[in-house]
Amino acid sequence: MICFTTFELMIFSENFSLKTYNTFGIDAKAKYFTAFESIAELNSILISEIYKNNKTFVLGGGSNVLFKEDYDGLIIHNKIAGICILEDNKNDVIVEVGAGKNWHNFVMWSVSQGLSGIENLALIPGTVGASPIQNIGAYGLEVKDTIIKVAAIEIATQKVKTFSNAECEFQYRNSIFKGKRKGEFIITKVTFNLSKIPFNKTSYGVIAEELKSLDKAPSPQSIAEAVINIRSRKLPNPEELGNSGSFFKNPVILTPKFTALQKKFPKLVGYKISETETKVAAGWLIDNAGLKGYRKADAGVHINQALVLVNYGEASGEEIIALAKEIQTIVKEKYDIQIVPEVNIL
Ligand code: FAD
Ligand code: EPU
Repeated sequence: MICFTTFELMIFSENFSLKTYNTFGIDAKAKYFTAFESIAELNSILISEIYKNNKTFVLGGGSNVLFKEDYDGLIIHNKIAGICILEDNKNDVIVEVGAGKNWHNFVMWSVSQGLSGIENLALIPGTVGASPIQNIGAYGLEVKDTIIKVAAIEIATQKVKTFSNAECEFQYRNSIFKGKRKGEFIITKVTFNLSKIPFNKTSYGVIAEELKSLDKAPSPQSIAEAVINIRSRKLPNPEELGNSGSFFKNPVILTPKFTALQKKFPKLVGYKISETETKVAAGWLIDNAGLKGYRKADAGVHINQALVLVNYGEASGEEIIALAKEIQTIVKEKYDIQIVPEVNIL
């Protein structure tokens, strides 16, 4: 029997421009870059000398990263595709999805099947494999609500590890993969429970309004359509203006502090998330500090959504970071609240 490994086929590019691999459009360079479409290809990368001798970063769609400088190591770009139906029962369909699959395309596939659970997360850029990293969320739902398990390869041991939903330690814009075990795993597959019974989650105010103006009853399809319309109006399209969505997380503060702040700033926006805590709209804090539309050279605060920092063309990662630090200082001085980046800075 003659066996061929795919090792010889793996291409490692040197001094590789990442400009089209990050939605901020930062022209950083990677010392080495390679991409994999299967576990076999990934295994070939893991046994290579370049992999063994360099630090590594796994890149999906690059929609939640900011390169502050060239990357002095190996970037591995996940392109594992495919949707596999594992189970189809009375109420649910269990699907296993390749980590490199485009997230929005997966959402559109789900709604085209009449399935429910992720329609509120339509038009979020990036890959399925990155969705558990920060537990993506929008318009009243988070991906943790549908994830059953996450399959990954541990970088140090190269062993396969499967994380149950509970083991992922999901929180608002956080998980074990962004927290205490950051950078230790390469996610290869994510398994979701999609429901045949529609969630019809329209409680996030603007969805109900948008459905009304579309004159459509709630369904997975119509909710996805409403979310796409709302997001297209509000958020800059990275293909036209570099950005990575919300640059900062919405800070969570103790409710008495929120109430005191609200006396000073009556229009302050916040949402009670527990008996003791309130999540504050960081976009409001930045906007109310007069920073919406603020610009320094090619780094700016978006004109419609102050939580989104943008690259007007030639901004460097350092310039975006300098702007972010300036915003953090102003917000801290004005409200005594420390806002922290949501974006992964390298
Ligand atoms: P990348 O940016 O490539 O990577 C992000 C992080 O995940 C990195 O640390 C990377 O190492 C890690 N990673 C990626 N793939 C893997 C893998 N297979 N294994 C291990 N680690 C991996 N986010 C929201 O939550 N809600 C929103 O509403 C939202 N709206 C957005 C709107 C715009 C216009 C943009 C540009 C971004 C928005 N985001 C939003 C942020 C972003 O889309 C999500 O965080 C998305 O999940 C990132 O996916 P990605 O494949 O681009 O990840
Ligand atoms: N606001 C302002 N001025 C601004 C921006 C917002 O006053 O410039 C106010 C809005 O009027 C609203 C409140 O702040 O009352 C919240 O704004 P919005 O509904 O736009 O949501 P957000 O809190 O700014 C979050 C997520 C988004 C997600 C939306 C919708 C975070 C960090 N961001 O934004 O996620 O799409 O809710 O659910 O949680 C992302 O993570 O990249 C992202 C885009």
